[in-house]
Amino acid sequence: MDVVLQQLRHTYAASGLEARTVLMIDDWQAASGAQILLRGVSGSGKTTLLNILAGLLPPTTGVVRCGGQSLYALPENERDRLRATTIGYIFQMHHLAPTLSALENVEMPLVFGRKLNASARTARARELLDSVGLRDFHRHRPMQLSTGQRLRVAVARALAAQPALVLADEPTAALDAESSHAVMDLLQESCRRAGATLIVASHDPALATRFDHVVDLRNGGLHEG
Ligand SMILES: Nc1ncnc2c1ncn2[C@@H]1O[C@H](COP(=O)(O)OP(=O)(O)OP(=O)(O)O)[C@@H](O)[C@H]1O
Ligand SMILES: [Mg+2]
Repeated sequence: MDVVLQQLRHTYAASGLEARTVLMIDDWQAASGAQILLRGVSGSGKTTLLNILAGLLPPTTGVVRCGGQSLYALPENERDRLRATTIGYIFQMHHLAPTLSALENVEMPLVFGRKLNASARTARARELLDSVGLRDFHRHRPMQLSTGQRLRVAVARALAAQPALVLADEPTAALDAESSHAVMDLLQESCRRAGATLIVASHDPALATRFDHVVDLRNGGLHEG
């Protein structure tokens, strides 16, 4: 799925805080199937941009088009539906459901998608958890997992419904080099195989060599790296 941004501005105006314009992106696009590394120092707006791309945060002004569809022109329930069926998001804070097991967390997007029956959903979730090295942790809840293991559950969950756009916010921040390679291999190979567009926000310099397309978020704007 291609992604287009036009005249995008985002200003945070929380009460008691001075208004801050975090994003000012006039014109940017990601081709369908592209794999993009989004770099930028802490506070540059990477998470804000991913939240906007995910359909979770309406920008102050501007247009976000995913696969030709203007995300924020949709009523909220349709946007939620589009997100559930076409976008996988690995959050910076993982956001797993605390009362569900690892397996149930990975199955969740498949329940929303309603394409598979219960046993096919479980089979797919098992396979995904195995592929991120969590064969022995299917029944663990997030609290019973290490930070890196939780991240791997989040990766499996994001890929479960075979989304056309995958967003990942600092997916390797909590991992050692070996796990980091494994997670990035899985993310990149899964997206390549499915023809999905992948956007990874990170300041891990080790990731740059994995991406042909690198963009730097600086002073609110995107600069091709
Ligand atoms: N809900 C909010 N209300 C007000 N300001 C916010 C809010 N969320 C983020 N900001 C501000 O927007 C700026 C960008 O934040 P954002 O989280 O997008 O940065 P980031 O590039 O993801 O940083 P990091 O690398 O530390 O995760 C920061 O200055 C932050 O203070
Ligand atoms: Mg962030």
